[in-house]
Amino acid sequence: MGTTSLDNHLPYRRIARWYDAIYAARGRAPAEEVEHLARYWSDDGLAEGTRRLLDAGCGTGVHLPFLARHGAVVGVDRSEDMIAFARDAFPDVELHVADVLDLELDQRFDVVTSLFGAMGYLTDHSALRKGLARLGRHVTDRGILLVEPPLLAEHMDEPRDQHVRTSFEGGTLVREATSRIDGDILEIDFTWRTLASNTERSEEVQERHRLLLLDSQGWLDVMREALPEGTDVEVRTDGPIGRGLLVARFNRDGACGSG
Ligand SMILES: C[S@@+](CC[C@H](N)C(=O)[O-])C[C@H]1O[C@@H](n2cnc3c(N)ncnc32)[C@H](O)[C@@H]1O
Repeated sequence: MGTTSLDNHLPYRRIARWYDAIYAARGRAPAEEVEHLARYWSDDGLAEGTRRLLDAGCGTGVHLPFLARHGAVVGVDRSEDMIAFARDAFPDVELHVADVLDLELDQRFDVVTSLFGAMGYLTDHSALRKGLARLGRHVTDRGILLVEPPLLAEHMDEPRDQHVRTSFEGGTLVREATSRIDGDILEIDFTWRTLASNTERSEEVQERHRLLLLDSQGWLDVMREALPEGTDVEVRTDGPIGRGLLVARFNRDGACGSG
């Protein structure tokens, strides 16, 4: 069996090929998630199908085809491997490998989303502020930014181990996770393992993920600090999958805003 050591530098490099299968096994429903999100932009006065949308930290692109029902969609992610899968699956979508901290697209968007905790990987407050400000610069004057946190701290139970198993390419894919909380950091060690009928093809990858764990008020504070004055920010404790949602409605008068 090929085993690799714990990768705590840049997650989502070597597990991109397994990502969709594991989350499908966990009952993921991206179409319904986007339908939930659409309620926040449905009253923006734009004609259906004409919006420009950006998904930041889009990963393998699970939400892209559903966002595309609302207009022209662009995806960015810092992981080349995740974007490679998105490119294969959605060849017509404009995709970029980019870290949100340096994001500089030459366009602005009516809707910017960052889903399933992608911004939580900015684990210090100033990086998170900077990343959110960068996203804010890509929102139109009356646009909307929707950020789904990894988890709201007030929803976090005691960390527990998790085991997911599903069939994958004729064999079995297993993902084990152990988590711990250290201050405002949620650290999760994932072990991904394929169990092929031919054991020579089996493989194991370990990754450590470090995520910022803030409560609702913490997210509200950092969003308000990061985004231009006059932006209306609210926190929802439900969100598309029950992990919360930050909703920022921009109210700029022509100016490009700070950050
Ligand atoms: C949990 S995955 C979510 C992917 C996708 N949004 C989804 O719902 O399946 C987090 C993603 O955020 C990306 N990511 C983390 N930090 C990032 C950053 N600073 N800039 C761009 N992408 C980032 C990771 O590479 C990963 O693909």
